This record gives sequence, structure tokens and C-alpha cells, in this order.
Amino acid sequence: MNKIPFGPTYEEMLNPKKMLKKVRNKALKALKEDELDPINLFNITWKDENNEVRKIVLPKELTGVDANIVVMLGKGFPSGSHKVGPAYSTLIEGCVDGYIIPGEHTILGPSTGNFGIGVSYICNLMGYEAVVIMPDNMSKERYERIQKYGAKLDLTPGSESDVILTLERTYKLKEDPKNRALAQFELFPNYRFHRYVTGNSAIEAVKGIGNGRIAAFCSAPGSAGTIAAGDEIKKKFPECKIAALEPYECSTLANGGRGQHRIEGIGDKMCTLIHNILTTDFVILIKDEETVQGLKVIHDGINALKELGIPEETANYMRELFGPSGICNILGAIKMAKYLKLGPDDNVVTIATDSFDRYNSVIENLNSRYLEVEDFVVRRWAQDIFLGQKDDYVYDFRRKDVKQQLFSQKEKDWTKFGYSVEYLDSMKNPEFWESEYSKISYYNEKIKEMR
Ligand SMILES: Cc1ncc(COP(=O)(O)O)c(C=O)c1O
Repeated sequence: MNKIPFGPTYEEMLNPKKMLKKVRNKALKALKEDELDPINLFNITWKDENNEVRKIVLPKELTGVDANIVVMLGKGFPSGSHKVGPAYSTLIEGCVDGYIIPGEHTILGPSTGNFGIGVSYICNLMGYEAVVIMPDNMSKERYERIQKYGAKLDLTPGSESDVILTLERTYKLKEDPKNRALAQFELFPNYRFHRYVTGNSAIEAVKGIGNGRIAAFCSAPGSAGTIAAGDEIKKKFPECKIAALEPYECSTLANGGRGQHRIEGIGDKMCTLIHNILTTDFVILIKDEETVQGLKVIHDGINALKELGIPEETANYMRELFGPSGICNILGAIKMAKYLKLGPDDNVVTIATDSFDRYNSVIENLNSRYLEVEDFVVRRWAQDIFLGQKDDYVYDFRRKDVKQQLFSQKEKDWTKFGYSVEYLDSMKNPEFWESEYSKISYYNEKIKEMR
């Protein structure tokens, strides 16, 4: 049997205590000292050195709602975002299946950036050549990081169908038998990682907060991997509502819209193959400019935040935690808390996929677009965007006839890539998703056996 690169199982990513102690300690040391040491694969987890989920419960002076908004923080993952998890999971499953062979295959990473950063990083650690295929209109920090980790870039035009163009390009490159795609939009390791690792971490994250349950889970889909966490949360807390957030300017799920927008990493202008529509209860639209202004408030608005009653220490701590999609998720969580009329016992969980480190240029761009970004403007944004966020643009997708709209969107997006209507129809049965999920134990065993 081939030996595959040494890396964690799904079980170990959820619960690093199950790793050999010396491996975990070595990995934690490398996280601080040498991010390119392959042992960092064992840092792919939501847990910190105390085995606690990295999270923040947002100050109510900011959210203006009684419910507790718990944001899980992707910043602590190696490469700076949780997207490294699906990248690793897809690669390692490919190795287990014998589909990806070390030394033989070049890895393709279709992405809007963070998955590409994850792919470049993982391939560096695991010794693969990599090509990241992504639109040419993302923040410059993304391209720099991808190149820093060693992958080549293959850029497609940023346009109203930019992600679809990256997919088409990936399909073209896949014709070369040397290439293997980590197809995040259509392969189920992304679903498995988030349902098992992120979902169960979310369940742990709310222990001791409010009633210890989760009333709503909000996630803005890019690949719709993260939103799979909701499937696991719903199993544990059946009352939990799952909300998919989209840019108001690109309302593909809500009504087929496909406009350009500023929230990098989400709103990819399709219903991805791995999106479990059955469990998506609400679709919520968030105005893209509010996410960028909200980022400005959190990053540069210490005075405004202090005036809201947020302690200086908390305001300083929050500065680096979010990017625009994290702010989008927070605004969606506020909308959900208001819409569902949640109280102080209730928890809403959401995600910060990455953090500020790749968005300086986004704030520079905002500063250049506004005549005034002084304290008095930021103060008004803090009031309007967070405290004044309304429960509008919330669409209920629980009814069968409304859900059909999403199934039709998925069919439109994926039959053109060769998926049959029959296969797409099989996804309308919950069994499909349970069956994909149940493969986790097989991969856990195989990874242990083969590494
Ligand atoms: C910044 C950012 N936020 C959110 C997402 C969406 O996450 P997912 O692809 O799991 O839906 C991504 C995906 O790349 C991202 O890069």
C-alpha cells in the first residue's frame, strides 16, 4: 500500500486531543515559529492550544440584539483561513482513493482566493506542484500569498460570471491527465469537513453561553462548504434555522441575480453542487458596501466603538478578526436575531472565514472613494450598520415550492458541467447527504492506516 503524507484524520481535526501529544505539541510550536513546517497540517482545527474553539461572543453594545452572536474565528488556521481545511480534506481523500499520486500529479485549485491560498499552502507542505485558477479582480493580498506559498496563478477575467469562468478553465485544464482538481464547488470532502469539523465545533462553541443551544446558523456561501456545518447543528438542535447570506448586489439564490459585488469569497453566482438546499431555511441579502463600511468601523473606529460602550480592550481585540465576509455574516446574524425575535438565552452562530490581514487594500480603496472618512462618519456607520441593521431582505425558503427555485438554479448551473438531472434529483433526498457524510469513518480509518 502506498504511504500518503502524514496528516490528521477528520476526527483529529475536530478533536486535537486525539492526536499523539508529541505531534500536537510540535505542531503548536511550528504554528508560531515556522508556518511551512509540514507538521502544521496538525493545526487544521478550530481549537486553540487549550482545545477551546477560537471564537468571540460579540458585545451587545455593537449588535444591538439580546441574542448572543457567537463568531467562530478562522484566523488561527494555518495560512490564515479555515479554507485550508477543505483544501487538505480534498487532497487527502484524493490520496486515499488513489486518484492523486504524490510526485505524479499537479493540483488545480479553482477559487476566489482563500481556497487558493489553502491549496497553495497545503501543496507546499505536502510536496505538490499547484496552479490556482481565480478571477483577476480579488484583493492583491490574496495573489501575493498564493505566490508566497509557491503555487502558480492562472487568472480568469473578473466579470459577471467570474467564478463560472474559473470553473470552465479548470475543466479545460483537467483534460491534461497530469492535472487533478481540488474541485471545492463539487467535491464532498468540503461538505464532510464542514459538517463534521465545523458543525461539531460550533456545537461545542456555545457550551455555557445562553441556553447552550443554537437557534440560528448564518453563513454566506462561496462554495457552500461552511454552511454544511448547519446540517450537523440541525441534527443536534432541530429548531436551528440555517440562513444563507448573499450580497444584495448578487442575489443568485434569492432570485437568480448575478451582479458584481465587493464581498470577496462569497456570492459566487451559482448554487454550488455541494450546497444542501434541503436544510437552507432562509436566504438573506446583505448590502456589500455595508460590509466594507462595517469593516472600517471595526478596524479603524476604536473611538466610535468606545462611544457605544465597548471596552477599549475588546475594541482593540476585534480590530484584526474580520474581513468583509465576516462582517457580512455578522450583519446576517443580527438580521436573523431580529427576524426570529431571539432573546438573551438564544445563540446565533456564524463564521469569520479569514481576518483583516488580506484586506488592507479594500480599506485603502474605501478611503479613496469617500470624501470624508473621519471619526464622525465612522460613528454614523457604526450606528446605522450594526445597531440600525433591520430584519429586511430575509426570504423564507422553507416551503417546498420556494425551495424548487434553488433546485432549478442548481440544475441550470451544473447540467452544463456534465451532471445528469437524475443525479441532481437524487440530492433532493436527505439520504443522499447522510450517505456522503457517513464516508467520514471510512476516511478516518484509511488515513490512519496509510500515513
Ligand atoms: C473570505 C471568505 N468568506 C467566505 C467564504 C465562503 O466559504 P464557503 O466556500 O465554505 O462557502 C470564502 C470562500 O472562499 C471566503 O474566502
